[in-house]
Amino acid sequence: MGRALVEGQKREEWQSRWGFILATVGSAVGLGNVWRFPTMVVRGGGGAFLILYLGLVLLIGIPALVMELSLGRRTNRNTLGAFSHLRPGSRWWLVGALSMLAVFVVLSFYSVIAGWSLIYLVGSTAGIFSQQGPAALTETFTRLSEHPFLPAMAAALFIGLTASVVASGVAHGIERVSKALLPAMVLLLVVLMFRSLFLEGALGGALWLIRPDPEALNLQTALAALGQVFFSFSLGMGAVITYGSYLSRGSDIPRNSLIIGFSDVGIAILAALVVVPALFALGISPEIGPGVIFVTLLGIFNTLPFPAVWASLFFLMLTFAALTSTIAMLEVLVAYLVDEKRWSRSLASTLLAVLILVAALPSALGQGVLNHIEIAGLTILDAADQLVSNLMLPVAGLMTAIFVGWVWGTGPVALELSLGSTRSRLSRLITLAIRYILPIGMAYILITGIL
Ligand code: PHE
Repeated sequence: MGRALVEGQKREEWQSRWGFILATVGSAVGLGNVWRFPTMVVRGGGGAFLILYLGLVLLIGIPALVMELSLGRRTNRNTLGAFSHLRPGSRWWLVGALSMLAVFVVLSFYSVIAGWSLIYLVGSTAGIFSQQGPAALTETFTRLSEHPFLPAMAAALFIGLTASVVASGVAHGIERVSKALLPAMVLLLVVLMFRSLFLEGALGGALWLIRPDPEALNLQTALAALGQVFFSFSLGMGAVITYGSYLSRGSDIPRNSLIIGFSDVGIAILAALVVVPALFALGISPEIGPGVIFVTLLGIFNTLPFPAVWASLFFLMLTFAALTSTIAMLEVLVAYLVDEKRWSRSLASTLLAVLILVAALPSALGQGVLNHIEIAGLTILDAADQLVSNLMLPVAGLMTAIFVGWVWGTGPVALELSLGSTRSRLSRLITLAIRYILPIGMAYILITGIL
């Protein structure tokens, strides 16, 4: 049952514990795991990136999940409302606003890649790519991503799909869809991983993933890994705060955060075990860009029997992964309009969908019509990704940690955690991490990584 909010209105709530966990894992697992993580691992030198990533998951990612879930559940508010509710009259709501801005920018490029995935899903099912060799596949990807309106249309379709789920509500829409899609996605990934690992020459790729290159162990890689933790755990964007706000008092936040965090890491590694060994098996040095999963993986599938089946399965999985993530992102913005402005869910979802589509156009056209526009040598899509992941998310996360650890205070946090959890030692460790490790660690990595 929803709890009373203001003016006697009922606020929504998750229907079951597993419904919440699957929805939150579904939000965390997305293009960040399947498209971004393998790319970052390869760029960051394989094992070196992986070590830094796992360290940051434990020290920063998991405590930050606890921090955002507690903030949401305590206040039962959207991202911006959570801050202003705990410190009314102060400027802390600005942190919520920064998170909302970040989520908007992410949606603008994320929906473009999700749209590519949709196009490839349709194309694979029709068997269009299965006869193409590597050169033809590259050509196809270039033609598609440079196309004047196909990517924008696909992004529009994807945003529309997202909005229709969000408009149906938290339990009825988001929870139901996530419960169905997440298990299907994991199953597909496991099948693909075995396929990939048994390719000839794949083992080199798997080994390379665990062998750290000492030269790559530096602060730049650490900043990239921190950005990846934030992106992948959906932190600093208000998504976890918002999902936490639909959580009941009895739920065990530290335990659920461990489950959510490790599921996300597990699925990212699974995806890397699909992509990287496949790259090695093809015998090409992992030349890596946004097109890698669209070109290289298809190339691999085409060397196997039934290429269209493997490709369709893969793009189906990728589309599911992206959808449960865009749902969470849109919910951040919808929750704000519903809580604070008293808009109806359907109106908020529809209007935001239109705004997001407009914002997505530069990223959709940046490969083709607008490819003369470069920001610091990057395409619009890449630049938006870097700006958000390596700056806006860690800054929003840092400010949230200062707010939770020092302004709201560890006393109230510990009290909040004790509501559903009996593990007081674990809770104490986590509150200490929120107060000290998060702000100091993130400030250090941000400052040195950027300089
Ligand atoms: N974590 C998602 C991913 O890895 C992205 C995301 C960010 C989803 C913010 C929801 C909110 O793809």
